[in-house]
Amino acid sequence: MKAVVCTKYGPPEVLQIQQVLKPIPTHNQILVKIVATTVNSGDVRVRSLDVKGFMKVIIRLVLGISKPRKAILGTVFSGVVETVGHKVSTFKVGDRVFGMTGFNFGTHAEYIAVNQNSNVLEMPDNATFHEAAAIVFGGQTAIYFLDKAKITDTPGKKILIIGATGSVGTAAIQIAKYHNADITAVCSSRGHKLVVELGVTNIICYDKEDFTKQAERFDIIFDAVGISNKKQCKKLLRANGIYLNVNKYASETVQQLQVLKELFKKNALNAVIDKTFSMDEVIEAHRYVETGRKKGNVVLKICE
Ligand SMILES: NC(=O)c1ccc[n+]([C@@H]2O[C@H](COP(=O)([O-])OP(=O)(O)OC[C@H]3O[C@@H](n4cnc5c(N)ncnc54)[C@H](OP(=O)(O)O)[C@@H]3O)[C@@H](O)[C@H]2O)c1
Repeated sequence: MKAVVCTKYGPPEVLQIQQVLKPIPTHNQILVKIVATTVNSGDVRVRSLDVKGFMKVIIRLVLGISKPRKAILGTVFSGVVETVGHKVSTFKVGDRVFGMTGFNFGTHAEYIAVNQNSNVLEMPDNATFHEAAAIVFGGQTAIYFLDKAKITDTPGKKILIIGATGSVGTAAIQIAKYHNADITAVCSSRGHKLVVELGVTNIICYDKEDFTKQAERFDIIFDAVGISNKKQCKKLLRANGIYLNVNKYASETVQQLQVLKELFKKNALNAVIDKTFSMDEVIEAHRYVETGRKKGNVVLKICE
């Protein structure tokens, strides 16, 4: 099968399209013919080893010393079940599925074999393959942090979302909105139009105004791009207010995927897709995501 192989840590040019062995599903696995995946900030970070100081050593130990041990990057997929292992009962051949492989990576390829009990579900009926792939990465991360902030406990919580236009930010806005939160978003003037389209009216453009100088106070501050710190934001919090930064550890679960599926089915969550690249354009896709300026998500089309 065709796959994008990361030959070493480095610039986008270290990525090569190669022919590799097609995975064979074990008893509990399904083989998915991938239709779409995404190139996200996490893929770029791993490929470029963009981490500071001692973390570089840790990451090399975890992911591989001179190159990623899992040479095929990519964590998100949508596609069609092609074969199933003989103990698989949850899925059948032909099912349209979507999911996240996390630290197992491997989705920038024509096929992936995943355990039936892993982070994989049937796609929402109303989603295209591109939409299904696009809602996963930012969506699961946003749910992880908004759950920590207990956004579902009481409606009408006042939330400040810093970095509102990225993959995590656009998902966080929509999920917070679904829970009737009172949202203020921080974005650039370039991102203003998108944030309005997502239904936010209180917007602070960081290139015109310093968000830390405003008079409003919040129950939740979620920095979805990781440019602030708690000390800087403390005065903006109400008593018992919570500050969360996306740069802290987050984990992905199939329950989060289920929530995303339900929200998409109810039209409460839209896939925000900035650009779509073909598999052969993967270097270009990485270059674009690496700018840190993308709006929402970048889809990598694996097949038609
Ligand atoms: N903890 C975890 O497991 C986890 C999971 C996912 C992501 N992350 C981290 O979360 C961060 C965001 O990820 P992502 O995938 O959402 O990124 P992304 O899609 O690349 O988004 C970056 C966005 O942030 C905006 N932005 C840049 N500088 C900003 C600033 N100073 N203030 C407000 N907005 C700004 C950019 O638009 P403009 O340039 O127009 O402002 C762009 O739309 C990354 O650092 C990533 O590593 C962590």
